[in-house]
Formats: sequence, structure tokens, C-alpha cells
Amino acid sequence: MDKFVVRGGNPLLGTIKVSGAKNSALPCMAAAILTEDELILENIPQVRDIETERKLLESMGGEVQLGYGRAQHRTHIRCAVLSDPVAKYEIVKTMRASSLVLGPLIARTGMARVAMPGGCAIGGRPIDLHLKALEAMGATITQDHGYLEARSPNNGASPLKAAHIVFDKITVTGTEDILMAAVLAEGETVLENCAREPEVTDLAALLLAMGAKIEGAGTSTVRVQGVTRLHGARHRINPDRIEAGTFLLAGAISGGDLIVDGCDPAHLGSLLSKLQECGVRLDVGTDHIRVRSDGQLKPADISTEEYPGFPTDMQAQFMALVTQADGTSVVTENIFENRFMHVQELNRMGANITVQGRTATIRGGAKLQSAAVMCSDLRASASLVLAALVAEGETILDRVYHIDRGYERIEEKLRGVGAQIRRMGDVFGKR
Ligand code: UD1
Repeated sequence: MDKFVVRGGNPLLGTIKVSGAKNSALPCMAAAILTEDELILENIPQVRDIETERKLLESMGGEVQLGYGRAQHRTHIRCAVLSDPVAKYEIVKTMRASSLVLGPLIARTGMARVAMPGGCAIGGRPIDLHLKALEAMGATITQDHGYLEARSPNNGASPLKAAHIVFDKITVTGTEDILMAAVLAEGETVLENCAREPEVTDLAALLLAMGAKIEGAGTSTVRVQGVTRLHGARHRINPDRIEAGTFLLAGAISGGDLIVDGCDPAHLGSLLSKLQECGVRLDVGTDHIRVRSDGQLKPADISTEEYPGFPTDMQAQFMALVTQADGTSVVTENIFENRFMHVQELNRMGANITVQGRTATIRGGAKLQSAAVMCSDLRASASLVLAALVAEGETILDRVYHIDRGYERIEEKLRGVGAQIRRMGDVFGKR
């Protein structure tokens, strides 16, 4: 299992490039299910979740060519025939976002069989809102042997029917999944209380290019006029706002002078205002942000919200930042329960963080020290990398496969701007 070895203390200097957004790329790849024609997606990040989605589409009969390097992250996907519209457990168990194939599969083939990842459906991250919306559109859903089986009306022979759906709660992939179901449904579907994340807007832009009729994507009410057929299209994926935000924080925590290039500052509003509150200097261009810090940080409180509020996917990294602030910060997590797995590891590095319910209190000014730490999930891992950049000594991060799910070659990118970070095969074994 790979590990990162990070020696802290270097300010990050220079330019770091942002990749395409994993969370846009995943639904856009799933949209290939909706047409027999070819989709060409550009700026697909080279991360493990994308590899998983490729396997998923191929296992259903799709053809996927991921082209990196000179091919500029261009991906060709063609689902001419979906011989096996099943999302198998072996593939689904590693990636929750595989529920994104549910809506498009029923819309295209009239049926879908999707494995439920262990415990997730009922436990921490349910997909009940996806299912409720599909049922409102006439789908019949049954559960058997760990799989969900869904069929459109007339035992899969008729298309889904338009419906008026009000999501009980704002859900990002739920909005995307049902949007993809609605584009081929019969009649006009109205979706209310939709997620407004840029990733939803990105998917809608692709669907429009494929011939869908959608109004209001990016707002809380989306109207979809169903069509009978979608065609192929070429689409460029948005830059990854979470990767960009992570690099901004890396520049700030290391006391560096960093240009985060190829991002969309319009997607980063809530984070940028918090960074300013922390006393970080920002110069915002059209597609880049320069971040400068002398390492003197002020505390700031955050409360995670749906977009355009402060993203839950930046909460862990922000917490690492304010361990270095001169004062106390309060972080409230409103989107997911139990998203404080990084706290224990940050405390093992010398941070002073206490958690009560959904709130963490961070007493800043801690002198972080290196330690052997364990990555528990994607963003928690990113927060440990940030902490390691300022910790005294050599931090060893175990289980970096979590970070590889969503960050493209993060160690190479950070090394390019002066961080001392390297990937090791099995450092503990060699000692
Ligand atoms: C997406 C992102 C993830 C991000 C999250 C919130 C992708 C691939 N992942 O995840 O990185 O952290 O948005 O911004 O885009 N919920 C239900 N029932 C449902 C669906 C969701 O109760 O059917 C709840 C969840 O438990 C959670 C909240 O709604 O408390 C928001 O979840 P959701 O927006 O669906 O997250 P994801 O789309 O899974």
C-alpha cells in the first residue's frame, strides 16, 4: 500500500495547475449511457474514481478510451449497446457515486440493477431521495440480494413519466441522477430544491449539447422537457474547485507565494472570503488565483452549507489551516454526520481540536509535529497533507489510495512548487 513521506517547513512557491473536476467528470461519464453515439469528454482527471467508472461502463458493454498525456485527458465513450445494464458489487463497493448510473440506465434501457454499497443505502449516505424521485416517475424498485432493481412503467417497456419532484433535502448526485432520468422521460419534469453546485451545471451543459431540453440548471428549480433521443457531443469538464481550494490552502499554510492556475474563481467565493478573513493575500484573475501568506493567520469560523455556501469537501483542509491561526476557530459540519475523522490524526500531530456533535473547536497556534498518520477518506487525507507541509520533521501518511481517488498526482504537483513529498511503496516494511 502506497504511503507519502512529507518533510514540512518549505513555503510553496511558483505555479500549480488544477485538473478537471472529478465530481463533474463522474456524472458526465454516466451521461454516456443516455445515447448510442460517442461522447468526447475533455479535461478528465487521472484519478482512481474515474478508472472505477470506466470499469463500470465497460462492464455494462460500453467502450471507453481514456487518453492522458498528449491526448490532453480526452476520453471517448460510446455505449452503442448496453448488453448488461448492471452495476456490479465488485465495482460499486469502492465508489458511492456509482448510484449515478441508476437514472440514466432506466431512462435508456427501461431497467437497471445496481448493487448497494455495504450499509451505505440505509446508513450514513443513503440514496432514498434518488429512489423516491424515480418512483414518482413511474419506476418500480425492488431490492434483492444486495441489488436494487428498477424498471420503468410496463415492466420496462415504456419510458419514465414526467413528474413534479421536490427533493426533501438538497442532494448533489441525487439532482444529477434524476436530471439524467428526466431528459428521456415523457413530458415536462419539474425538479425543486435542486443542488446548485457547479458540477450540476456542468452536467446540464453536456446534456444540452446532447440535445436535451433543460431550463434553470444551477438554480433550485430545474425544468426538463423530455426528448425521445439524445445524440453524441463534445464537452470540456470544469476545473476542480476542491483541488483548487486545497492548493490555495497549501499556499497559505506553508507561508508561500503560489499561483493556482486553471481554476474558476467564480466557483470559490465562500472559500476566498474565509481566506481573506484569515489574513491571506489573494489576487484573483479570470482563471487563476495568487495566494500569499507570511504564515501569520487569523482564526475564522466556518459552517458547511450547500453551494454557494462553504463546501463540506473543504472542511477538513480548512481545519488543518486554522490549527496555525492565532486564536480559536469553530467549524460546524452541517452536510454529513461523522465527517471529523481527520481530527484524531491532526491531534496526533499536535493540534488542539475538540469535537462536540457537529462542531469542532480548534485552538490555533499549535506547533505541529510529524507522526505516522492514517488517511481515512479523500478530503481527510488532503487535510493531513496540508498539516504535514508545516509539521516539524517527516510525516508518514498511510493509505494514500484514498487521496488517489480524487487528486491527480498530488505529490508531483506539490513537489513542483517546492514541497518535500514523495511516494513510497511500503516504507514501514523497509525500515
Ligand atoms: C456529493 C459529492 C461529495 C460532496 C457532497 C456534498 C460527488 C460524486 N460527490 O456527494 O464530494 O461531499 O456532494 O457536497 O459529487 N442524502 C439523503 N438521501 C439521499 C441523498 C443524500 O439523505 O438520497 C443526504 C446525505 O446523507 C447528506 C446530504 O443529503 O447528508 C447531502 O448528500 P449529497 O449531496 O447527496 O452527497 P453526494 O451527492 O453523495
